[in-house]
Amino acid sequence: MTEKSADARAYIDSLTRGILDRMPKAKSSSSDRVPRVAIAIMAAGKGTRLKSKHPKVLHEVGGKPLLAHVIAAAIDVVPAQDVYVIVGYEAERVRQAVAYSGVGFVLQAEQRGTGHALMVAREALAAYDQIIVLSGDAPLITPQTITKLRDFHSSQRPAMTILTAQLQDPTGYGRVIRKSQSSPEVKAIVEEKSARPAQRKIREINAGFYGFDAKLLFAYIDQLSNDNHHGEFYLTDLAAIFGKAKKRVMAVAADDPHEILGSNTRAELVDIDQRLRMAKCRQLMADGVTIFFPQTCVIDCEVEIGADTVVEPFVQLLGKTRIGSDCRIRSYTVINNCVIGDGVRILPACVLDESQVMNNAVIGPFSRLRPGSEIGEGAHLGNFVETKKTRLGKGSKANHLTYLGNAEIGERVNVGAGTITCNYDGEHKHTTVIEDGAFIGSDTTLVAPVKVGKHSYIGAGSCITDEVPPESLAIGRARQIVKEGWIKARGAGQQKKE
Ligand code: UD1
Ligand code: CA
Repeated sequence: MTEKSADARAYIDSLTRGILDRMPKAKSSSSDRVPRVAIAIMAAGKGTRLKSKHPKVLHEVGGKPLLAHVIAAAIDVVPAQDVYVIVGYEAERVRQAVAYSGVGFVLQAEQRGTGHALMVAREALAAYDQIIVLSGDAPLITPQTITKLRDFHSSQRPAMTILTAQLQDPTGYGRVIRKSQSSPEVKAIVEEKSARPAQRKIREINAGFYGFDAKLLFAYIDQLSNDNHHGEFYLTDLAAIFGKAKKRVMAVAADDPHEILGSNTRAELVDIDQRLRMAKCRQLMADGVTIFFPQTCVIDCEVEIGADTVVEPFVQLLGKTRIGSDCRIRSYTVINNCVIGDGVRILPACVLDESQVMNNAVIGPFSRLRPGSEIGEGAHLGNFVETKKTRLGKGSKANHLTYLGNAEIGERVNVGAGTITCNYDGEHKHTTVIEDGAFIGSDTTLVAPVKVGKHSYIGAGSCITDEVPPESLAIGRARQIVKEGWIKARGAGQQKKE
């Protein structure tokens, strides 16, 4: 298609769209079209039981905020524009933390309970047919379970579907009261604090995930009252309200009861974190990675590792770190948001942050790569070497006691022990350039901005302040003076008493 005809086509499309939008919609009964489904995620609570100044849903498990896990599962099931996160406590922080996902937000300025959270979302949600409600503090929920809840709700069409689970220890959760033991229908949900002793024995709990018929939800939600232990509007009371109105309320069980675990306390948070990390290790092992003592390793959910890489005990791999295949990551190393090539060896106790390491490089022990370090193919970085915003070319080596900051270092360069780039003049950072094949003698200070040309040599102990042309030798140090017989010449009075 030519550019002109493409323009014309777009123009006609826009006109037709305008006309179609203004045409009265054909009356379709709700049964002959796919229902419009929205997902609402309740995330406005403070999380009092965590005893934290930070909003509960931003506490992290598996290296990501609780809410980020729930959003990831939700947008796997419906498009992000049909997901609404209900925010309240520290709303702006929460919104910013997950804005990348493209979901919508609803503000619940005052947090007056889970029922109230849905009341304030009425305007955003009323145009949908069905609403799936998720809890922002239950991060183990999977897209499969959300889909199961949605499909069950769509096929059965009750007013409300409750996702439930059988827990060994149901303490703290709302209990599900079925119409009768074998009935799929629910009479009520009773919160722990309001439950009678016999009800507390019920092990079937309300997971905090629901399906609703949107029309019925908003027709009945105003009947909720806050006459209870917390003075809150409980969404769970809708079960009994629908029951009285002869509307059906059904239960569907989660396949894995652990998926619904909520994180109300620090202990629950840590338990969920461990489950996520063990699951991550198992998945990596299934994909061909060896992880010795996985219980001691901290590997975030989004980390990727290639086959035949070995991870030793007490390693932390964080953020969006990607590690190639055939690498060995030795103990006590922490790697955050890095890209590591294939065949790389990272020896014990290294700290790598926002950096890149190319194939077959060797790092450590005790190396520190600060943000913006790029270590070339086959390069070596040894003990007590720190780099920052520095590129070390292919096959170059800096093996001992060195600081390389704002440096551009070429290929096959040898950086001697104790070399320091003086990159900061108190106000600005300056660059040190070392070209291919140069040899920097031990204990050299390079006062930036400065350049060392190709194949040049710097004498040990030099302070280099001026450019060194290619293939030269530069020595910048005081000449050695030797005073022979100096001890004797000092005189008897000066001699050490024995
Ligand atoms: C809730 C259920 C309980 C269920 C449990 C499952 C109610 C009344 N109880 O209890 O039956 O077993 O979940 O985990 O719903 N939130 C808001 N606005 C508010 C209050 C809460 O958005 O005004 C959010 C919270 O941030 C949280 C979610 O709703 O993400 C659930 O609230 P939470 O206080 O944790 O409820 P639970 O006590 O766990
Ligand atoms: Ca909860």
